Amino acid sequence: MKRVTEPELMTEREQVEAYGNADFEEPHSNFIKLLKEYCPEITNLRSVLDLGSGAGDILLRFSKAYPLAHIDAVEGSQTMLQFAEGLLSEYSGIKMRIRFVNSMLQDFSSSTDYDLIMSNSLLHHLHNPSHFWDKIKELSQPGAHIFIMDLMRPGSLEEARELVRTYVDGEPEILRRDFYNSLLAAFTINEVREHLAEAGLGELQTEQISDRHFIAFGTCR
Ligand SMILES: C[S@@+](CC[C@H](N)C(=O)[O-])C[C@H]1O[C@@H](n2cnc3c(N)ncnc32)[C@H](O)[C@@H]1O
Repeated sequence: MKRVTEPELMTEREQVEAYGNADFEEPHSNFIKLLKEYCPEITNLRSVLDLGSGAGDILLRFSKAYPLAHIDAVEGSQTMLQFAEGLLSEYSGIKMRIRFVNSMLQDFSSSTDYDLIMSNSLLHHLHNPSHFWDKIKELSQPGAHIFIMDLMRPGSLEEARELVRTYVDGEPEILRRDFYNSLLAAFTINEVREHLAEAGLGELQTEQISDRHFIAFGTCR
C-alpha cells in the first residue's frame, strides 16, 4: 500500500486533548520497558533529547524511570507543549529536569552531548523521513544511544481499519481519524532500513515489536 502523508504538526485543540487524554498505557509502558531491555547499559543517563515530545506522557514515564536525566523536549506544536506543561505541573521535581523547546525538528540545533536521543511516534508525521534521520545523525556524538519507536504502515486499508477497531475503538472520533491517518503515513520496516542506510546510520538495528510498531536502536559510531 502506498504511503499517504498526514499533517506534520498536531495543532488542533480537540485533537491535542484527545491525544493527551487517550489511554496509551500499553504502548508507552512498552516504550520504557523496551528501552531498558534493548539499551541495558544506559543506567546513568544525564542528557537526553526527546524529539516530538507531544502531550508529555512519555516524558513523565521516562523521567520516573531515569531520575538523573535532564531532557530537552522538542515539539513543534505550541498546543501540544501547553498540554505537556499542564500535565507535568503536578510533578515539580520532574518538570525542573525538562527543558521544553517549541521548535520544528528541522530547525532545532544544540551543542549538548546527548547520552540518549529518543522519539516515539514522530517519524511517521514527517513528509521527508531524511529530516528525521539526518537530524539524529547531526545531533548524536559518538557513543550516543538512539532509541526510536514508531508505527509501521499496514499492508492494506482494511488492515488499517482493523487496527483502529482493535486499539482505539473507545476513543473520540478525532483520535480514531488521526490513528488511521498515522497508519497510512507510517513507513514499512524495509523503508526504514533503507532510510537508515541512506543517512549513514546503518549501525542502528531495527525490529518489529508488535503488530503495529517497530523500534530502531543502537549506539552511534
Ligand atoms: C503522535 S505525536 C507523539 C507524541 C509523543 N512522542 C508521544 O509518544 O506521545 C507526534 C508529535 O510530533 C509533533 N511533530 C510532528 N512533526 C514535527 C516536526 N517536524 N517538528 C517537531 N514536532 C513535530 C506533533 O506536533 C506531535 O505532537
